[in-house]
Parts: sequence; C-alpha cells; structure tokens
Amino acid sequence: MFKSEIFRTLSGIRTSLFFAVSLLFNVEVSAQQPTQTVWLDDLDLSSATQGYGVPKRNKSVDGHPLTIAGITFARGFGSHAASLLTILTEGKAKSFTAKVGIDDEVKGQKPAAEFIVAGDGKTLWASGIMHLGDPPKLCNVALDGISRVELIVTDGGNGEYYDHVDWADASFEATGVTGFKTYNPISSEPYILTPKPAAFPKLTGAKVFGVRPGSPFLHLVTATGDRPMKFSAYHLPKGLQINSQTGQITGVLTQLGTYMVLIKAKNAKGIAERQLRIECGNRIALTPPMGWNSWNCFAQEVSADKIKKAANALVKTGLINHGWTYINIDDFWENNRNSKDSSLRGKLRGETGDIVPNSRFIDMKGLAGYVHGLGLKIGLYSSPGPWTCGGCAGSYGHERQDAARYAEWGFDYLKYDWCSYGNVIDGLPGDDPYQISSLSYKGGDKLTTAVKPFKIMGDYLRQQPRDIVFSVCQYGMSDVWKWGDSVNGNCWRTTNDITDTWASVKNIALAQDRTAPYARPGNWNDPDMLVVGQVGWGNPHPSKLKPDEQYLHISLWSLFAAPLLIGCDMDRLDDFTLNLLTNDEVIEINQDPLGKQGTCLQTIGELRIYEKDLEDGSKAIGFCNFGIDRVDLSYQDFRKLGLQGRFNVRDVWRQKAVATIESQNGKLQIEVPPHGVLLYKFSPVTKLTHKY
Ligand code: GAL
Repeated sequence: MFKSEIFRTLSGIRTSLFFAVSLLFNVEVSAQQPTQTVWLDDLDLSSATQGYGVPKRNKSVDGHPLTIAGITFARGFGSHAASLLTILTEGKAKSFTAKVGIDDEVKGQKPAAEFIVAGDGKTLWASGIMHLGDPPKLCNVALDGISRVELIVTDGGNGEYYDHVDWADASFEATGVTGFKTYNPISSEPYILTPKPAAFPKLTGAKVFGVRPGSPFLHLVTATGDRPMKFSAYHLPKGLQINSQTGQITGVLTQLGTYMVLIKAKNAKGIAERQLRIECGNRIALTPPMGWNSWNCFAQEVSADKIKKAANALVKTGLINHGWTYINIDDFWENNRNSKDSSLRGKLRGETGDIVPNSRFIDMKGLAGYVHGLGLKIGLYSSPGPWTCGGCAGSYGHERQDAARYAEWGFDYLKYDWCSYGNVIDGLPGDDPYQISSLSYKGGDKLTTAVKPFKIMGDYLRQQPRDIVFSVCQYGMSDVWKWGDSVNGNCWRTTNDITDTWASVKNIALAQDRTAPYARPGNWNDPDMLVVGQVGWGNPHPSKLKPDEQYLHISLWSLFAAPLLIGCDMDRLDDFTLNLLTNDEVIEINQDPLGKQGTCLQTIGELRIYEKDLEDGSKAIGFCNFGIDRVDLSYQDFRKLGLQGRFNVRDVWRQKAVATIESQNGKLQIEVPPHGVLLYKFSPVTKLTHKY
C-alpha cells in the first residue's frame, strides 16, 4: 500500500470516529464543515521568496505554460530555487496535493532541485533531488492539525542556476474555508539603527594606509561632525603634506618604513585626534577597499556622466566622511563587438594597439582628474581574454599597454574579470581566441592556466609609477585565495555574481569560512558587491532583501573583512540605505587594521555566531539568524567564542553599551529577528588603578 493510501484509510477511520462521537454528543457537523478544494494558485503567491524572478501564477518563472517532462499543466505555481512560500492553514487543511518537477523551459541546462513540504517546522514530504526531464512527482501530504505549511525548493546541492521549478496542479483539501493567507515571516518594515553623527568631530575611516615608495600618495583623512572642519597632521614624514581644508594627504614617500602620524580634526565644537599608521613598503590596500561600482545598478548603461554623478553623490550624501573612497567603472567603458547601441560601437583599439574607450567615455584622464579632485579614487575593469563578460574589448595580448594606459590616465584600481580567457587557454587547438565561445569558463579550474593571465597583468600593474589595487575576478576557481597574493592580487572574488535575493546572500555567506585563513592586510576575500539600495543591472529597483536581511548582509561583509563596494544608484539613496552605510562602528569592524576575517564558531539551530578578532584585543561577534523563526535565548557559551574574563558588550548598530559580562558564568539575553542580526563588540575590561 502506498503511503497516501495508508493516509486515506487512516483519515477514513478518523472521520468515521469523529462522526460517531459527534452523533453521540449530538453535534451537527456535516452541513457546516464541507470539504473543499483550495487551489494554490488562488492564494496570494507574491509573498514567496525565490532565487530569481518573481513568483508566477499558472506559468513558469519565465512566463511559459507550466511544463514538466513534456506534460503541460493549466494550474500551479512557477518559481525558482531557492524558493519558500509560507501558508497559514490554521488547522483547516486536511491535505496538500501537487505534481512537482523542473520546468522544461531550461532545456540544455543542468538544473537540480528538491521540493519539500514542511508543516509547523517539520519536514512532511520531500521529493528527493530532481533533474530536468524527470517525470512529475506526485506529492500528497496529510495536514490535519497543521497551522503553518511551507513549500520549499532547495537548489539540489549544485547551485541555483536554471532551477526553474513548478508546483503543478497544486491544491489543498480543506474544511470550512475557501482560502488561506500566505505570509512572509521576514518583516518588510525598514527601521533605522545608526544614530546620527554627533556635532563634535570624530575621525573615521582606515587607521592604516599602505603606499609603495615613489608612488603618488593620496589619502583622505575623514571625520564626521559639524562643518567647517580643519584638519592637521603631526609627524608627517618628509614628502607629504595635508590640506587643512579637505584633509587630503598628498606627496610622495621615497623611504621604506612605518610612520606614525597624529591626525586632528577641529570644528567649533572641539577637537578629535587619532593615530594614522603609514606603511611605506610593498603592500597596498591594507584595509578592505571601500567605495562604489557601476555594475549592480547600471550594468551596460554606464557612462562618464553617471560616474561623475555617483562621485558627486558620494560627497553630497556625506558617505565620503565615513571612508567610502573608490568610484569604480565596471564593464562597458570599452567598445563592444556586437552591441546594437551605437554609443558602444567603434574601433576597439587604435593603430598602435591602444585601447579606445567608447563614445560615452571620451576623456578618461579628465574623468580620473575629476574624481580625484573630489578627494576620491577611481577604478576600472577589463578581462584577460579578448572580450569582457559583456562582449567589450578585453586586454588579451595588450596587457602591458593597457596597464601603462590605466596608470597614465590616473586610475587607482583594476577589476580583472576572467570571462573569455577560456577561449585562449591551452587545449583548444587551432581556436581563434577572438571567436565568441560558450566555453568561456573551460580550463579555469586547472591551476597553471588559472594563475597565468592574472600573473601577467598583476606584474604589469606593479611596474607602473602609481599604486593600482588589483582585484582578481574569476568567481573563486582553483581556490584563488591560495594564490591570489602571488599574482599581486589585493582582493579576489570567492563566488559567482551576487543577486539581491536572500538565497544568494545566504549561500555566499555560508561558503566564506574556508577562505578565512588567507585574508590579511593587502589580501582580501571578496564575496562580491553589496546589494542594498536601488540595484538592478540596468533596471534599478529597491533591493529585494528585507531590512533585516540588509542589516545581516552588511554585518557579515564587515565581519568577513570583505571589500565593501556599494552597487546602487547613488542618486536615489533613501534614508534607510544611507543609514545602513554610515555606521562608523560597523565600518570599523570591516576596516580593522589586524585584517582578520571572521568565521562562524558556533551554530545553535539556524543561529550562526561569527567571531572576528580586532586589533585592540576585542572581538566582534555577530549573532546571525539564518532561520525564519525569531531567536530568543539566554546565551552563555562565551568560551566557545574564545572569550575569557570580563567584557564590556556593545551593540555596534545601535552604538549602545549592552552589558558587562563575566565569561565564566555570565548570561546575555539574545533576541534576533528572522534573517536578522545582533552585531556586538566584546571589549576586555582592564582593571583600573585609581590614584587617590
Ligand atoms: C561578471 C562579473 C560581474 C561584472 C560583469 C560585467 O563576470 O562577475 O561582477 O563585472 O561580469 O560584464
């Protein structure tokens, strides 16, 4: 007998018993409690969360008829892994039935996914891993007494790519109701945590800055507080000077060495001072780069005009006063091989092989000068292959020339993106590397071929008369964290492209711990750019991450000592996003000079507790709730986090003292919203010696 038949028999017995008891007590039931079918597609599906696209009623995620293994269904829910729909059945559903599978619309791809039905937090049914072409699987689940049903689709263990998934012919048998409420357990209400900066001056930004001897020195001392503000620096080494109006330190250092400089910021309310450590040596980017990049909002629509606007906005919004520095142009500043947009068409290179920017970027040197004039730095993008990922001219065969040109223009940062390098590598005999190949990733997992193109460009960048941060972008192939430093890389992507979905942020976050031992000043693991604010790759919309998910995203990236590159339209920054990006105590965790990457030291259910060592002996601790239920617990495992002794605990988002805790027997009440975070700093309490 199939499970479903057992269920039907059992529920039959149960129903008869119920009627017998009802008759006994003379209760009238049948007329009031008819069983009816409630179709899933009649419910509000919009509260579902999914890895890509939006939930579709009676259609696949791409808008085609729902089709599994050649069978078409008129009704159902088309989604994309990772997907979650929560339905409040409140004990009124008797059963749920559906036919599940991967939609045929992704022919030629290799999706895999698992469908799960959970009731009140427990798995009631699971499909097992399903692949494209598998016949629809019948799901028939008893739901008596269940108040919350979750329809879940996981990525089947191979990532979410092309996981277009269908819950076809999906319906509930229910009593006494004609519909159910769906809901998203993650709150949509934005709330502000970062207190407004005080009027009194406060120095912000990195406490250490690295420069190579002979390179132009460019570092902005930043502070919050009332303007006008005057900056000064004491014990500046010979060759450097500070602009007292802007705080910009410029000049050139020729002597290797460590220089401790006392910097001061003064306004009508008072004066703040702090040490800045200048390291003149071989290493740069001694704290994770912070800034903005054009890709996540503008993609192929980028232009010099938009770059200037973003730079202006970084200044106008005050973000510059919190250490945000780089304005990075991503793909599409070059000419394109086949775009229909005439502003992207033109000679790829000049007579002598020099790269020719497209008509939206007629004056690269002028643009760099403009951005520098604001006290900011500027970056751009290329590929070691003949083509960038967007089909524009890459650097293949012109690496030396390109590196020299970037330096001559005055650029400070290069993101170098693998893409069509697959056309070039050994193993494709006779291939024209300029052909358009779909095998562009091939070979990237072989160590020698993976390293080679980055070594070439990394070496040329080092030969330039200015410091250029080298950002290696090849999505984490061949354990790049193990060799990124050997190609002069300052940061390297550890993952595929991020999207503004919970599934994407979560999966990226969960994969970071293995890279942690390789992070150090000048070498940063890069889990990709931030997805807060108006993002959308040419089609900007508010980030689909919920407010708590955004707090968690920024907290995790800070704990990871990740490069922080804002990816949103800077001209449309809302208060919530600005507040999220201007918390100096959170940024300080990211920019801590020790350069350690935080890792997860303990899990309690879906609560993951991350720890990052800080230079002053304190620890940043993130209580990160990856689950959909609120966490409410009395925490006392301080030893598991390496905490010994007495600690002052500070909530860095709220910038408030929380408690003083004894690690041995102390307790801390922890309340974390679903997909939310508590980010605390534990500072050892040093014994005070009082003078009487
Ligand atoms: C991708 C890269 C993105 C963006 C894009 C440009 O490969 O991961 O961050 O740079 O190329 O085409």
